[in-house]
Amino acid sequence: MTETAALAGFNPFDPDTLQCPFAHYATMRAVDPVHEVAGFGIHLVTRHDLVLEVLRDPATYSNQFGQTSMPLPEQERQRMAEVVAEGYPRVPTMLTADPPDHTRYRRLVTKAFTPKVISSMEPVIRQITIRLLDAALAKGAIELVEELAVPLPVEVIAKVLNVPDERLADFKRWSDDSIAGIGTALDIDGRLQAERGVNEFQRFFADQLEQRRADPRDDVLTELLNARVGAADRVADDRPLDLPEMLSIIQQLLVAGNETTTKMLTEMVRLLAEHPDEWRRVQDDPTRIERVVEETLRLATPTQGMFRIVTRDTTLGGVHLPVGTRLVVIYASANRDESLYPEPDEFRPDRDNLKEHLAFGKGIHFCLGAALSRLEGRVALQELVRRVATIRLTDDNEYRYFPSFMLRGLTSLHVELTAREEANA
Ligand code: HEM
Repeated sequence: MTETAALAGFNPFDPDTLQCPFAHYATMRAVDPVHEVAGFGIHLVTRHDLVLEVLRDPATYSNQFGQTSMPLPEQERQRMAEVVAEGYPRVPTMLTADPPDHTRYRRLVTKAFTPKVISSMEPVIRQITIRLLDAALAKGAIELVEELAVPLPVEVIAKVLNVPDERLADFKRWSDDSIAGIGTALDIDGRLQAERGVNEFQRFFADQLEQRRADPRDDVLTELLNARVGAADRVADDRPLDLPEMLSIIQQLLVAGNETTTKMLTEMVRLLAEHPDEWRRVQDDPTRIERVVEETLRLATPTQGMFRIVTRDTTLGGVHLPVGTRLVVIYASANRDESLYPEPDEFRPDRDNLKEHLAFGKGIHFCLGAALSRLEGRVALQELVRRVATIRLTDDNEYRYFPSFMLRGLTSLHVELTAREEANA
């Protein structure tokens, strides 16, 4: 069978494909880099240069793709609408908005979520990492996803948003509820339950914001409340953020940040355990830490792809795309483009063009949390290097990935860790 013929039957949701889509992406890059998936109404953009072309042209390629959750049948939609109506309106901000609305949201949010706020999180990230690692080392063997990679980003973003410790378990549940519908096969009762959790999340933060309106504090929520566009922002609509907009933004910080960072941390440990030479090198020379984080993001891209909608007839890579065409830019494939990365499936932190990867996107929607998750990756690896001598993947690992087309991450990772002698000295 020719490569083109093999692509004809490609199904992105096939269980085997979801476990490992990379060979299909390689074929697409070679023979059909803007591939129309028959029967699914989507085109996949797989080459690095073409993904960049889309990201740099938000006027032609819109982010107003709406929900990333699976559509519901009519009767269930009605039940869902009733539950949603009990909460504040869900408004599309940042990720699912286009300019000029997107510009206003992004300008206002970056006044609250500043580089200073992010760098001030370093001691907190370190403290949480050390606590989790010490517990892991005391046990000797852990399931890394649940015991390190999930709690770290959730607790960090909870600290950014000043969530009291006693609400941490609720906060974690709201984070899960917020992503319940994305690329999963949850039944209607599960989806409704999750949506009620989102309402609960909204009420909690609405209350927190109201408290700060009356009594401002030195925190991100107060800054969000007080953020105003200035002349330098060149935004015509100068309204401050209203409550539903702020709630949507806060929810996006959870949705976009937690799962992705969890997946990055898990893959980083797996890759280092599978490459003992690289683990030794980074132990001997911690200046390699950032390289390891970037190469992990390139090779194990957590956000595999993102939707775009074509706003006017256009041509991409020689393929005619009529207005309304639904695209998915496949970051995970762009990051393995052999024209940029020789032997793209290999883990090689020595590559000299690591920063050209697109794991955080590019252009106006470039990940708002990139600096925060890079910091989490760096601090986590610093503390691993400092405290851990050996990492061993245990024999009972199945290496199963969540069956999601958009987010790629292991369901579990069992590891044995031994402590470095001098770590606790
Ligand atoms: C390894 C971790 C992460 C990865 C791989 C990742 C990936 C991405 C990607 C690919 C985009 C661009 C989407 C597009 O092109 O439409 C994006 C956007 C975004 N990310 Fe992240 N992200 C990560 C962590 C975070 C964190 C920690 C936060 C928040 C604290 C965050 C918040 C956002 C937001 C709000 C957007 C939308 C920005 C906009 O549309 O202007 N992300 N992320």
